[in-house]
Amino acid sequence: MEVKEALLRRRSVRKFTDKKISENEISELLHAAMSGPSACNRTPWEFFVISNPEILEKLQKAARYSNIEAPLAIVVCGNLSKALPSQLSPFWIQDCSAATENILLMATDLGLGAVWCGIHPMKRAEKNVSDILSLSEKMIPLNIIYIGHPAEVPEARDQFSEKKVHYIK
Ligand SMILES: Cc1cc2nc3c(=O)[nH]c(=O)nc-3n(C[C@H](O)[C@H](O)[C@H](O)COP(=O)(O)O)c2cc1C
Repeated sequence: MEVKEALLRRRSVRKFTDKKISENEISELLHAAMSGPSACNRTPWEFFVISNPEILEKLQKAARYSNIEAPLAIVVCGNLSKALPSQLSPFWIQDCSAATENILLMATDLGLGAVWCGIHPMKRAEKNVSDILSLSEKMIPLNIIYIGHPAEVPEARDQFSEKKVHYIK
């Protein structure tokens, strides 16, 4: 699929069939994630790949809008011990967001559906996910990406708005 087509076809999918995601698909998703840019190439991301039904059920309750049934979840985390020091540390969020978007685009390319459910900076949700996955203090969950074979296919769309663009010529 062309990048342009994937960009327009990537939509949040929240309903999935029971069909499992293959090892090969998981590998493609993770390779896409780690192809992303990161500040000073610190790559402070870590990925928890969850297919265990009991853990998936717990994650559904971790945050108000994370209640989605899917065969797979990838929890994208920032490892603060790998992040840049002091005031540059929050760049981990942008690094992990770039990795997340890459996963969503690769899912689209593979014909899978996915949705990004935000966790950081919601403190309660962060704690819930950290407890469920027994994360260390340095590992901050940015989001839960639910992935599966889509049981709904939202329309491709282009949200371009000239009003959001400021040309300085
Ligand atoms: C930071 C962030 C947090 C989000 N959190 C949630 C969430 O908790 N639950 C959910 O169903 N969708 C969540 N979304 C998906 C957005 O609702 C969705 O991207 C937006 O409505 C645009 O729709 P689209 O993804 O189909 O283009 C989140 C997206 C982002 C970028």
